[in-house]
Amino acid sequence: MSDLPPGSGDLDETPAFLENGFEFVESRARRHGPVFRTRILGRDTAVIVGPDACAVWIDPSLVKREGSQPGFIFEILAGPSLPHLDGDGHRERKSLIMEGFTREALAGYLPDLVRIVESADGISRILAAALPDGTKIAPDALTRELHHIIIAGYIIFAEFAWAAQELSRRPDLRLRLEAEIREQASGGLSREALDRMPLLSRVVMEVKRLCPILPVIFGVARRTFEFKGCSVPEGWAVFWALRSTHLDRSIYSGPETFDPERFAPGRAEHMKHAHAFVPQGPGPDTGHKCPGTDYATYFMKAFIAALLRGGTTWEFTDPVASYNWRQIPPEPMSGLRARFGRSNGVTGNG
Ligand code: HEM
Repeated sequence: MSDLPPGSGDLDETPAFLENGFEFVESRARRHGPVFRTRILGRDTAVIVGPDACAVWIDPSLVKREGSQPGFIFEILAGPSLPHLDGDGHRERKSLIMEGFTREALAGYLPDLVRIVESADGISRILAAALPDGTKIAPDALTRELHHIIIAGYIIFAEFAWAAQELSRRPDLRLRLEAEIREQASGGLSREALDRMPLLSRVVMEVKRLCPILPVIFGVARRTFEFKGCSVPEGWAVFWALRSTHLDRSIYSGPETFDPERFAPGRAEHMKHAHAFVPQGPGPDTGHKCPGTDYATYFMKAFIAALLRGGTTWEFTDPVASYNWRQIPPEPMSGLRARFGRSNGVTGNG
C-alpha cells in the first residue's frame, strides 16, 4: 500500500482555502506536486492537479459526485442538480439539458448573444426534450438546473471582464483583432463569420485558460485509488484543481503569461496532452463536462467582436491591482471603472 499524499493532514486549513482558494492550491501544488492532502471543513481531502489528474477525475469508478459539495454550495445550487448526480440519474438529466445547447440551438441564440440580450428559448427547448421512453424533465428539477445556469451567467461576465483587461493592456493585439473582425464580419456576426476568426478563437481560449473562476470542483473517492504513487483512501474528498491544471509547466511555456499565440499551429501547446486544455471540465459531453462549453465560447467571441468591430476603445481608470479572492468568481477591488471611447474620439465613462 502506498503512502498518503504529501501535505498537511492534522490542521484544518479551511480559513486559508476560503481566503484565496487559487493561491492555496497553486502554492501547495508547486511544493508537493500533482497530488497533496489537506483538511477542509473537517474532511480529509486529496487535491489533484494537472492533465493526468483529469483521467482520474472523469473515471466514475474512482470519483463520485454525490455527497461531495460542502453544504453552502449544495444550497446555492438548490440541491441535487447535475454536479451532484452520478450514474443513470446524471446521464438522463444531462441528455435533457444538452437539448438546450445543440449546435442548432446555439446558432439560434447567436443573434440574441450579439445583442447581449437574454433569450428564454433555451428553457423551452429543455422543457420540450424527452428521454427515449418519453420522460420529460420535472419542473422542480428544471428549477434546480436553472440556478446553475444563472450562476454560469456570472462566470461568463467574469470572462468578459478578464478579456477586456487583457486587451486594454495590449493595444497591438487589440488592433490585430479589430482588423480580423472587420475583415470577416462585414456581413454580420454569424456563427460562420465567428468561425473564420482564428485570432479571436485564440484570445478566447487564453482568457478561459487563465481567468480565475473556481479553484476546485468537488468529488469523493468512490474507492481507494492510486495517483502518482500516492494512495487516496475511499471516502476522502477529492478536489480537482481547475485553474492550476492550466499552469502546468510541462504543457504551457510561461504559464502565467497571457499569450494567445501559444494555441497557434506550430506551437499548439494545448495539443500536448488529451487533457491539457479543460477550462470547462475534461471528458465527454455525457459526463460532467460543462454543457455550456460552446455557448460560452460563442458568447465570449460575440462580446469581443461586438466591442471591437464598432471601433470601441477603453481604458480602466483604476487599473486592477487586486482582487477579492473570497468572491466566486473573484471580483476586482477597483470595481472595474472604465473610460470608453470610439476611434473617432467620442468618450464616456462606465
Ligand atoms: C466560460 C464560462 C463557463 C465556465 C468556465 C464553466 C465551467 C464549468 C466547469 C469547470 C464545470 C465542471 C466540470 C466537471 O465537474 O468536471 C462546469 C459544469 C457545469 N456548467 Fe459550466 N462553465 C461555464 C459556462 C456555463 C454555462 C453558460 C452554463 C449554462 C448555461 C453552464 C452550466 C453548467 C452545468 C449545468 C454544469 C454541471 C454539468 C454536470 O455536472 O454534468 N456553464 N462548468
